[in-house]
Amino acid sequence: MAMTEPRDVAWWKSAVVYQIYPRSFADSDGDGVGDLRGIIGRLDHLQALGIDVIWLSPVYRSPHVDNGYDISDYRDIDPLFGTLADFDTLLARVHELGMKLVMDLVVNHTSDEHPWFVESRSSQNNAKRDWYIWRDGRDGAEPNNWGSLFSGSAWEWDQTTGQYYLHLFDRKQPDLNWNNPQLRKAVQDTMIWWVERGVDGFRMDVINFISKAEGLPDAAAAEGQRYVVAFSEFADGPHVHEYLAEMTREVFGGRDGEFIKIGEMPGVTPEQARLYTDPDRAELDMVFQFEHVSVDHGPAGKFDYVGLDLVALKKALHRWQVALADTGWNSLYWNNHDQPRVVSRFGDDDPRYWAASAKALGTVLHGMRGTPFLYQGEELGMTNYPFRTVHDHRDLEAVNFHKSVLELGGDEAAALSGLAKIGRDNARTPMQWDAGPNAGFSTGDPWLAVNPNHTWLNAAAQISSADSVFTHYQTLIRLRHELPIFVDGDFTPLMEDDPQIWAYTRMTSTAKLLMIANCGRDSRTVDVGPQWIAADLLLANLPETPVTVTSRWLDLAGWDARFYLSARMRWR
Ligand code: GLC
Repeated sequence: MAMTEPRDVAWWKSAVVYQIYPRSFADSDGDGVGDLRGIIGRLDHLQALGIDVIWLSPVYRSPHVDNGYDISDYRDIDPLFGTLADFDTLLARVHELGMKLVMDLVVNHTSDEHPWFVESRSSQNNAKRDWYIWRDGRDGAEPNNWGSLFSGSAWEWDQTTGQYYLHLFDRKQPDLNWNNPQLRKAVQDTMIWWVERGVDGFRMDVINFISKAEGLPDAAAAEGQRYVVAFSEFADGPHVHEYLAEMTREVFGGRDGEFIKIGEMPGVTPEQARLYTDPDRAELDMVFQFEHVSVDHGPAGKFDYVGLDLVALKKALHRWQVALADTGWNSLYWNNHDQPRVVSRFGDDDPRYWAASAKALGTVLHGMRGTPFLYQGEELGMTNYPFRTVHDHRDLEAVNFHKSVLELGGDEAAALSGLAKIGRDNARTPMQWDAGPNAGFSTGDPWLAVNPNHTWLNAAAQISSADSVFTHYQTLIRLRHELPIFVDGDFTPLMEDDPQIWAYTRMTSTAKLLMIANCGRDSRTVDVGPQWIAADLLLANLPETPVTVTSRWLDLAGWDARFYLSARMRWR
């Protein structure tokens, strides 16, 4: 990409990104864990789908307490996944096929086994002591009331040096101290090392947590609450914009337009996101916000599942469409390795509605303005796993949560049902390639059970079928590449308070697009107004959908979803 190209035609605006969770994608050596050679062997699947960019979840050396989001060496590949030579082969193949590769950058914290932390904890005078966040206790207890996102306190006592260290996640994931300039330089050097190896960008893990509130104050707590996940004190903190701008400048120099920089940002507001993604500020290109994937969380947290309120879901996504309309850019996602499967969550995984609802949700999301992200298996409509006991789960978030519920005398049945619905292992069951043993994922025993529905829900069954979820996604991706309206069109929500119909328009100076979807089983007749009469059907998810609009009234079957396109001249 030429450096002089204006930013508003940035290449990533018409790109579709596909996330690979290497552990669960494809296993080439039969040890039950996916690996880099497994990915190399399946690149044809991604090419057939038509995606532009692969985001690889962490493959670095790690003790794997959080499946690689606890890194002990930023410059090597974990032997579980292969070698640096395998990585170079993968990168070369990806580039040969015309795709790009984005690394996961996990630098809010390291593993406690990272040499930086090993040094830091060795003595209070060590040169790297200040690379992490160490504090004295307060009245014989933790320095403040912050809770870990993975349950319990965010502080761990270190016997050797007599201080506590901060860990917003597991105690084996100590937080780095970004106020230390040497640490920031070390992170930038690591990024430069990967850029020089040829990678095309970074997805930055919880990157809005890197600047904590000055003085690490207590967070407001409810009556009787001992630990608080203190978003107000560590998300979007005082220096975060400065640190990100510095990173972009130091790592990419004037070439930053060639790369894609995506920030994962729990708790981020649209106002903050505009700042992070304003091209003039040169920080990031887009952020992952969490509003729409929090609408079914109850007051007691994410596993307090309260069911779907479709109006709330629509409004959450629409709010972001509108807020970033003039400045900044949205990412669009339903799924990733931290979220349950969307067809089971916001769709309908009953076999009668499964395919239609998977396609409808894809249509809703891919019609919006932003860069769409697909998570492995989403293109097949993979579903949640029938989790029953805590022993079915491998994720430390699930295991820690279950343990803390038992310790606090909570309701175990409710906890297990929340975990089954929202737990992260739903996303992490092995990719379903075919109907054979272990879904074609591995010849060995998979590290996490394969979903029993792989006998009918798998890639082999869908790739050759003209009306599969996979082919629908192929079309969605092709449309984004071919029609500028998906990239440039402005966004106007319709029927926002309707609890079943999802509708919006996109408009450019020459064309207008209507997305309309019935997000329920019951059929509905909807008044879309006279201006759509004679509009052409661009995409439908059900057979025999009329190819032109002949009346202002549209009859929609259950989980019916459509794009209509109209030249603006015609209805104006
Ligand atoms: C991010 C990752 C998640 C991980 C956490 C801690 O949210 O997506 O998988 O557990 O950060 O690194």
